[in-house]
Amino acid sequence: MDRDVAVVIGVGGMGVAVARRVGGGRRLLLADFSEAVLGTAAERLRSEGHDVTAERVDVSDAGSVGALAQRAAAMGRVTHVAHTAGLSPVQASVEAILRVDLMGVALALDAFGGVVAAGGAGVVIASMAGHMAGALPPEMEAALALTPPADLLALPFLAPGAVPDAGAAYTIAKRANALRVQAAARAWGARGARVNSISPGVISTSMGQAELGGPSGEQMRGMIAMSATGRVGTPDDIADAAAFLLGPQASFITGTDLLVDGGVIAAIRTMPRG
Ligand SMILES: NC(=O)c1ccc[n+]([C@@H]2O[C@H](COP(=O)([O-])OP(=O)(O)OC[C@H]3O[C@@H](n4cnc5c(N)ncnc54)[C@H](O)[C@@H]3O)[C@@H](O)[C@H]2O)c1
Repeated sequence: MDRDVAVVIGVGGMGVAVARRVGGGRRLLLADFSEAVLGTAAERLRSEGHDVTAERVDVSDAGSVGALAQRAAAMGRVTHVAHTAGLSPVQASVEAILRVDLMGVALALDAFGGVVAAGGAGVVIASMAGHMAGALPPEMEAALALTPPADLLALPFLAPGAVPDAGAAYTIAKRANALRVQAAARAWGARGARVNSISPGVISTSMGQAELGGPSGEQMRGMIAMSATGRVGTPDDIADAAAFLLGPQASFITGTDLLVDGGVIAAIRTMPRG
């Protein structure tokens, strides 16, 4: 029997939760840079009854992402695409974050925008970090949205030395994710498909825990404490949002970002000052 294909790129904490939510009854193509992470995720989801194919990918390599998209298309109708691969400031350098978090998303949106089936949908995991500073200057936003992926890292404001630290690189990359999704929506729409991003708050995955244990941990705990929910998020909180955006009830939603942060940004924006 022909089955639709769900692709999950990045199968760490959030990726596995999303795969579990959207994989049932479909062929599940899992992809990650880490063979170890990929093997563990594939074994776990297979043992739960999913039909899993595992493929190593480097999202910062155009050839690797293109090959993954072709692999997905060869498996059947690509109806679900979730991009969760990423590196955080405690894990990586400025250069690696720009390559993986910024260019990697741009490459995946282009490659999967070329194979997604009519009626299909994609979701990219950005971050509330992209909402922290608000909008960037309009010419920067336009460049981040529209520059071809191969030229992105040559933009003057992303040149070596121009981005002060990994935190700043992450903020720009995550803002860029939402902008790339806006820009990709028409191309995906021309195929009868939709694409959106999710901006999670602090989520208890290995990445989230590493950040909470790093130099920004105290500030992050303070933000959580003053938020409306007062709690850290779970991978399932993100999987629920992804399932909605990938599903039929979101048929009029495309080219937008859903903030799933437990109210952190709302609290930051509206906290009385002074
Ligand atoms: N955890 C949080 O608090 C949080 C908050 C906001 C946004 N995010 C974002 O959510 C996404 C998912 O994060 P997570 O919490 O599940 O983290 P995670 O570390 O559990 O998973 C991320 C996965 O991406 C993979 N990856 C890294 N570089 C790659 C590459 N070049 N090619 C392919 N795969 C690669 C890693 O091997 C890992 O398995 C990331 O984009 C992250 O920036 C996380």
